[in-house]
This record gives sequence, C-alpha cells and structure tokens, in this order.
Amino acid sequence: MTKQIQFFDTTLRDGEQTIGVNFSIQDKLILAQKIADWGADVIEAGFPVASENDFKAVRQIGKNVTNCNVIGLARCVKKDIDAVTQALADAPTGQIHVFIATSPIHREAKLHMDQAAVIKKINECVSYAHKSFEHVEFSPEDATRTEWNFLVTAIRTAINAGADVINIPDTTGYTNPDEFGALFDYLKENIPEFDRVTFSVHCHNDLGMATANALAAVKHGASRIEGTINGIGERAGNTALEEVAAAMDVRKDFYQVENQVDLTKTYELAKLVSEKSKMPIPHNKPIIGANVFAHESGIHQDGFLKNHATYEILTPQSVGIAHSSIPLGKLSGSHAVAAKLKQLGYQITSADMHKIFPIFKQVADQQAIVSAEDLRQIMQRFEKTVQKS
Ligand code: KIV
Ligand code: ZN
Repeated sequence: MTKQIQFFDTTLRDGEQTIGVNFSIQDKLILAQKIADWGADVIEAGFPVASENDFKAVRQIGKNVTNCNVIGLARCVKKDIDAVTQALADAPTGQIHVFIATSPIHREAKLHMDQAAVIKKINECVSYAHKSFEHVEFSPEDATRTEWNFLVTAIRTAINAGADVINIPDTTGYTNPDEFGALFDYLKENIPEFDRVTFSVHCHNDLGMATANALAAVKHGASRIEGTINGIGERAGNTALEEVAAAMDVRKDFYQVENQVDLTKTYELAKLVSEKSKMPIPHNKPIIGANVFAHESGIHQDGFLKNHATYEILTPQSVGIAHSSIPLGKLSGSHAVAAKLKQLGYQITSADMHKIFPIFKQVADQQAIVSAEDLRQIMQRFEKTVQKS
C-alpha cells in the first residue's frame, strides 16, 4: 500500500506569527473550514494561552470544524496545557501539541536549563497532557541544532510519557535536505519506537529550503508535514503546503506517497489566505503566483503553443487556475503574436505577419507588455500601410 502523508496546517498559529498578520476570530473560522476542505488532516488552530482571542478561536474551530483534527499549542507549562484542554473541551477531534527547546543555545540562553532539567520537563508535561488528550504531539524546538544523541533521549522520553506524534522542527531554517535526511536515518536507527509513532516535520524557510527539507524528511521516514498556505510565518516563513502537495503530485514517480489534498482547491484557498493575511502573493511564487503559468519569451511561447508540457510540469487546472497565458512583450516571437491576433479575430497570412511583426517589435521595445488594445492599434497602423502601398 502506498504510504499516506498527513498535512498539518499551521497557517492560523505559526502563519499568524508573521509580522503584521492578525486574523479575526471570524476569519480564522472561515479559513479553518477552507483548509479542512482542501484536505488538511490536522489544523493547528492557535496558542490558547497566548490571548483571549486565540483561546476563543481555538474553541470555535474545535467545536465547528469537524472534518479534520484540531490541535492547540502549549509550551511545557501546566497553565498552557490547561488552556488547550479547556479550549478544546467540546471539540470532537481535539489534540494537543506541546513543545520545549532542546538545542544548547536555547537551553542556555533562553531556558537556563541543563539537559537533565529539560528531560524532566518533557516527562512531566507530556504525561500531564496525556491525561486530557489521547493524542499528544511533542516538539523538541530547534531540533536541528540539538546534539543528535540528546535529541534521541528527548524524543524517547516523550514517547514513553505518552506522545504518539514526534515533530522535528527546523525552527531556524538551518538544515538542508542531505543533513535532514541523515538526521532522520539516525533517529530511525536509534529510536526503537520509531515505527510506533508518527514522525512529523516542521521547517522554516530562512535559507529557502523549507519545502525541500520537508520532502527530504518524507523520503527518510517522516509521515506528516507541517506548514502554512502561501508559506506565511515567522521571519522567512514556513514550508508552503501547496508546494509540497504539488511536488508530491507532479513527482509521484519519485516520492511514491499519497495525501488527502484536493489540489484543484489550492488557488482559491491561497487567494483567501492572501486576502485575510493582507499579504499579496508574489508573482513568481511557486504554484500560485501570477507568472507561474505565463510564458513571455519567444522560444518558450513557440514550444508552449506546440505542446504545453514543453514548459509546464503541471497544468493550471490541476491547482484550480483557469488557464495559462502568453503575455506579449519584446521577447515574444511571431508565432505567439499571430496566435493572439487570431484570437482577437484577425485573419492573418504569413505575408501579413512579415509586415506586422516589425511594427509589433517597435511597440514592444517601448513597454513591458503589449495588450490586446495595443495589438488593435498595431493592426490599424498595418492596415493603413497596406492601403497606401
Ligand atoms: O518552529 C518551531 O519550532 C515551532 C514549534 C512550536 C514547533 O513553531
Ligand atoms: Zn515554527
């Protein structure tokens, strides 16, 4: 049977940690339902102890979004765990995610705790959380900068205390696909309970490798990927879940895994997250950016017009975008110009095209894009020239 990969969406928690993003409770509810309908297996609805509104949002989502698991975040602190327990008391699919940092820099500079103290805390907080929740996810924050042997001790402590999901966060976007894969191999070799629990990955994009790192982890044994829609999140953001879903679809041959995501709902969801977060989608953003299914240079346009697959590895329709486009500019070739003119209703012979194309080039040299209106004006100039001669 093909391995199933779970999608854990943290748009409403880590995504909201983006500077300037503050979703209202109402928006969180709308987004949570859309993310669940897209196919996420788990939604991290918030950090209930952080604010009254976060508490209320987690509560509302937990009660109302029932086609997906709803999880609340807690530090390894009793009052945080109690807040998640209360917020999800009426949630049919409520789960908890507890974390504590394990790396030397975090232990020394932030927590002022030695290794033994961290292990004690993990045991206490996971056991405490497990009293209220059947499913407990544990994260050793900054795992990728943690001593590997200590990471194993931390993880085994959490599993023995009742965690059934272990998340490996690359909190600062520090790792790379080779190293992350090797870390997973090490965990597999040194954690006898590896196959008893779900291993998850949570990557940040500081070096632009969040998606690649998450996918490398899947190749090496992870079966849950955490991330956000449009990759929003702290600093350079999180793994963009739409990128992971598209990669798994386009490269089924390589990843050989399945997921529940309905890719065709991606674009609509991405636009909604962009609107609610007030973060425009960059034009070159993989999968959903305005330029992703647009082809401007002559060589590309020519190939694309002959067979779309020459320059598109996925169809726009597969991610919910109506169609590709071939915007005309100074690099466009005569094939694309002729195709556009035909679309606009002009019957053009190749002899005509020889005269029209130089006029097109003059216009295109002066501006970034040649619009349909510009083409009509070019045709007027051409018709005048033809009448005169
Ligand atoms: O990046 C991180 O380490 C986190 C944890 C809370 C999982 O967001
Ligand atoms: Zn994070």
